[in-house]
Amino acid sequence: MGKVILTGDRPTGRLHIGHYVGSLRNRVELQNSGKFDEIFIMIADAQALTDNYDNPDKVRENIIEVALDYLSAGLDPAKTHLFIQSQISELTELTFYYMNLVTVARLQRNPTVKAEIAQKNFEMSLPAGFLTYPVSQAADITLFKADTVPVGEDQLPMLEQAREIVRSFSNIYGEGVLVEPTALLPDNKTCLRLPGTDGKAKMSKSIGNCIYLSDSPKEVKEKVMSMYTDPDHIRVEDPGKIEGNTVFTYLDAFMKPGMFEKYLPEYKNLDELKAHYRKGGLGDVKVKKFLINVLEDELAPIRERRAYYEKDIRKVYDILREGTEYARKVGQKTLSEVKTAMRINYFDDEELIARQAEQFLKKHTNN
Ligand code: TRP
Repeated sequence: MGKVILTGDRPTGRLHIGHYVGSLRNRVELQNSGKFDEIFIMIADAQALTDNYDNPDKVRENIIEVALDYLSAGLDPAKTHLFIQSQISELTELTFYYMNLVTVARLQRNPTVKAEIAQKNFEMSLPAGFLTYPVSQAADITLFKADTVPVGEDQLPMLEQAREIVRSFSNIYGEGVLVEPTALLPDNKTCLRLPGTDGKAKMSKSIGNCIYLSDSPKEVKEKVMSMYTDPDHIRVEDPGKIEGNTVFTYLDAFMKPGMFEKYLPEYKNLDELKAHYRKGGLGDVKVKKFLINVLEDELAPIRERRAYYEKDIRKVYDILREGTEYARKVGQKTLSEVKTAMRINYFDDEELIARQAEQFLKKHTNN
């Protein structure tokens, strides 16, 4: 059995640097590691519709944004199949069969879905499609027999449900068809949940505290300059706090070798910079300017690749179309194995037809 990756994002907006350090950067590294036989990255438009069913244009317009973010972050269509979820009808079909393997009570216990229900005010009128999206996500993963799913921390409950569904399927219909997937989280703990520029728990489009991969240098600069730091660090001489200081959190998430030599040679490393800030005598502006350089070091090549693809949107759609066609072929094969295991492959089952033909014929010849 080969090593297969599947992961994806809902196309409800452009991707931000929280997505990048939380998963996207990791995916590019995995892609380039050469350790995987197949990599599938999916734009989860059908899942996006489970809570945006009344706003299809939002989903429609954001497919290209997410595709551009993927390509500009370094996902390479020669190595990675990029595809659109809704165009693979095998996913919907598999989801329908998986629905039998999960209880409503189990779905209601999923902590991520629970939090989303509260946040979206779905308590009073919960769409069945939204409650059951973890089942569809299990289909996303298993249709491609993915064993590795690089995601953010909030997706762990989905992976747990997917594994339960695989185990239940294997118990009932037989082993060897489906693969139990494992989540892959970023090593750097700061990257699990990058806070917004306002220091709030999470980067979120609706709060407006995001830095987008597609932001211009001017936007990045303005956002960093107005970032939340330590509210008690008023004068440069004051001692400052690192914990909860968003500028340092971002430095933790984006630091890589060579950054100090290149942009702030007075310091050897991040520990030294932090120590000085704690002691007092280091101003926010200096740290912020360093952060801008560190961010730009990562974002500038991404922005360049985005500009390249933005000039050829037709080509981006061609990439998605080809990826989708390939994914569909793989999906058809798995679905056919699933249907055979589930004993719903009547027309392919010559043994069944022959046996019943004989059995019914006997009724007429025996007397
Ligand atoms: N739930 C993911 C998100 O909100 C998107 C997604 C859909 C996904 N299907 C998936 C992620 C399968 C990993 C594997 O971003």
